[in-house]
Amino acid sequence: MVAGGYPVERDAFRSWPDSGDEAHVEMGNRMSIALITGGNRGLGFASARALAQTGSCVILTGRDQTQADEAASALRAEVLDVQALSLEVTSPTSIATAVDHVQQHQGRLDVLVNNAGVLPEATDSTEHEFASPEMFQTTFATNVFGAVAVTEAFLPLLRRSPRGRIVNVSTTMGSLSDQADPNSPYYQMIVPAYQSSKAALNSVTISLAKTLADTDIKVTSVCPGFVQTDLTPVNRVQAPLTADQAAGVVLTGATLPADAPSGTFIDQNGPVAW
Ligand SMILES: NC(=O)c1ccc[n+]([C@@H]2O[C@H](COP(=O)([O-])OP(=O)(O)OC[C@H]3O[C@@H](n4cnc5c(N)ncnc54)[C@H](OP(=O)(O)O)[C@@H]3O)[C@@H](O)[C@H]2O)c1
Repeated sequence: MVAGGYPVERDAFRSWPDSGDEAHVEMGNRMSIALITGGNRGLGFASARALAQTGSCVILTGRDQTQADEAASALRAEVLDVQALSLEVTSPTSIATAVDHVQQHQGRLDVLVNNAGVLPEATDSTEHEFASPEMFQTTFATNVFGAVAVTEAFLPLLRRSPRGRIVNVSTTMGSLSDQADPNSPYYQMIVPAYQSSKAALNSVTISLAKTLADTDIKVTSVCPGFVQTDLTPVNRVQAPLTADQAAGVVLTGATLPADAPSGTFIDQNGPVAW
């Protein structure tokens, strides 16, 4: 199903086997500390709520300090443990400042959710033969280089966790299998910068998981489905899932049990083809 150029992604719900609620926060006696990028609105905000509802201490980051403060304040009003932190994922200085803050105040990180993402092609009206190089630069700057830079900077703190989890928020739109399969609902979709950025992010998930294979850190790409956010002008109108519903798969990746595989790509139905 393709709606307005964007697919209606699978909307059934199934968690990865057995990430029971107790597992979410049991870190010995310690509370799980989770950090999410782009947490001020949309899926990031809903994921911050979902993580905090498990009892985690959530560091909700946003590139605009005021918006991050307001979002964290709204979740604290729900009696959730949420702090705001400024983090622009394309800024090395901002990333370094955020890492210093977490280092000083928490001393470790248990969950990193690379959620911040953009889809500027959705509002691009410029003429081009195939794709705009500028769109590629803008999209990759946040969706790929930003996620890699944030991950690289926070890895020393994640290594201090007894069960670190990294969640890369991807999409089935970035699945090479679906893009190349004429029978896939994604086959007709051509959004080159966004799709290739998420394919690249998926590749990062695989290489990172292999790099961390001798640690307790697990890395997962997740597709949240087609969600009612402001990612594109059509999402609010056409998407079937609320952000709170879609946050379920982020939570699944963030709370994988110790015996779950690392380096997978999942949606709410289970594994997605790369
Ligand atoms: N919505 C869907 O249907 C859907 C489907 C599949 C995957 N996803 C993925 O889900 C993630 C969240 O998207 P969304 O749907 O919640 O969209 P959204 O409502 O547009 O939210 C995007 C978030 O990313 C933040 N962000 C963008 N660039 C940033 C940067 N350079 N540094 C820090 N934060 C930045 C935004 O901050 P500002 O408020 O400051 O702009 C905002 O908080 C994205 O990775 C997206 O690709 C969404």
